[in-house]
Amino acid sequence: MKWSVLYATGVTELDEQHKMLFKMSEDYRDALDQGHGERVCGVLLASLDQYARGRFGREEHCMYRYQCPAATMNSQAHREFTKALAEFSQRYAQDGFSRSDAQDLVQFIDGWLATHIVRVDLQLKPCVENERLGSRAPSIRDVTSATK
Ligand SMILES: [Fe+2]
Repeated sequence: MKWSVLYATGVTELDEQHKMLFKMSEDYRDALDQGHGERVCGVLLASLDQYARGRFGREEHCMYRYQCPAATMNSQAHREFTKALAEFSQRYAQDGFSRSDAQDLVQFIDGWLATHIVRVDLQLKPCVENERLGSRAPSIRDVTSATK
């Protein structure tokens, strides 16, 4: 799957984050196709964990800052993603690499990208546009520093 403007939230920093996730999935799918899936599975899981820990919180702050109606749903979906990811990581740690599990992981990420961004994250877009019509839109840095 490739990122396109159809996935744009209107917040550059969040769109850049999403592009990273698309790239991770695409690279891993390529690695599986080329028979390198086992070699990079641990790296992918660690990268996804790091992504979820570092990026989800920033997006959640942004949604609350813009008073997005999907903010609570977004936080809940992020928790569910993190839980599912932890289950993949636990199986990998216990049983090692499994091609079918790796394919399930890629499908899980692609499903997340196709559904979560469109159904949840994109609800941020009109909120951002409304604020920009009214005043200078804060960057995600403003959002993050305001919540510390
Ligand atoms: Fe989200």
